[in-house]
Amino acid sequence: MAPEVAEFLGWVLRRAGVEPANYRQTALARRLQACLRSLHVRTIEEARAALSRQPELATAAAGALLIGVTSFFRDPNVFDYLDQKILPSLAPPGQGLRVWSAGCADGAELYSMAILLAEHHRLTGSHLLGTDCRAEALQRARRGWFDVRWLLGGLPEALRDRHFVRDAAGWRIDEAMRQVVCWAQSDLLSEPLFDAPLWDLILCRNVAIYLEPAAAASLWTRLTTRLREGGILVVGKAERPDAEQPLRRLAPCLFQKLGGVRA
Ligand SMILES: C[S@@+](CC[C@H](N)C(=O)[O-])C[C@H]1O[C@@H](n2cnc3c(N)ncnc32)[C@H](O)[C@@H]1O
Repeated sequence: MAPEVAEFLGWVLRRAGVEPANYRQTALARRLQACLRSLHVRTIEEARAALSRQPELATAAAGALLIGVTSFFRDPNVFDYLDQKILPSLAPPGQGLRVWSAGCADGAELYSMAILLAEHHRLTGSHLLGTDCRAEALQRARRGWFDVRWLLGGLPEALRDRHFVRDAAGWRIDEAMRQVVCWAQSDLLSEPLFDAPLWDLILCRNVAIYLEPAAAASLWTRLTTRLREGGILVVGKAERPDAEQPLRRLAPCLFQKLGGVRA
């Protein structure tokens, strides 16, 4: 990557509070055009001028680099496995679970888990947390409102009708569900992670794929440390925690922390 491109992308990412050296340079370079488009400019010079006139645009520019793509029940096989194999056995019937969506983007992943827990009558008593480094993504997550195109993806109609309320332009997640989930802005790579009690289930999907190997290894260690023994780590389709982690693979994208109960 040309030094001026690297310097510009690094500057934008620092504005979003993340360390550019942790991200794969090739992945970042591929997002340059998207970043420029988000600022409605064609060159880095124009981008710098736009950002000095309107510093608040830096958030959207960083958002374009960090790729916030997500959807409900993304990778349906993973959610089927959680539904059929994990949730029935991860804790005694009726007991709530501690679930963390790390790198939650607009919240569709955590709301998908909330819907599954509700279907298993385990939402009450559960603690659900979504974290992301982008404040504007978390604002959308908190709002819990999604336009129609979003829901056409992976969300089965029956679940949509049970857990969402329709309005003029889209669908809002059921208020009771919105009350149960919590959101927090946090950098997964540098900030202290959320302390005890440990998590039963951590979803960290499609984050490590954009990281340099050393940063990804550090992320897996940080997450595995926060998982209880027997707890489940869910990763993206193209991701795999390194072999050093005390994890065993249960199915594609699903790992269990060694020790404790088996799912
Ligand atoms: C591609 S989205 C994945 C969303 C969801 N996990 C999924 O798979 O559908 C990646 C998310 O990770 C967030 N992210 C990237 N680096 C991060 C970091 N260092 N700390 C916290 N969040 C980060 C991005 O802002 C983005 O919202």
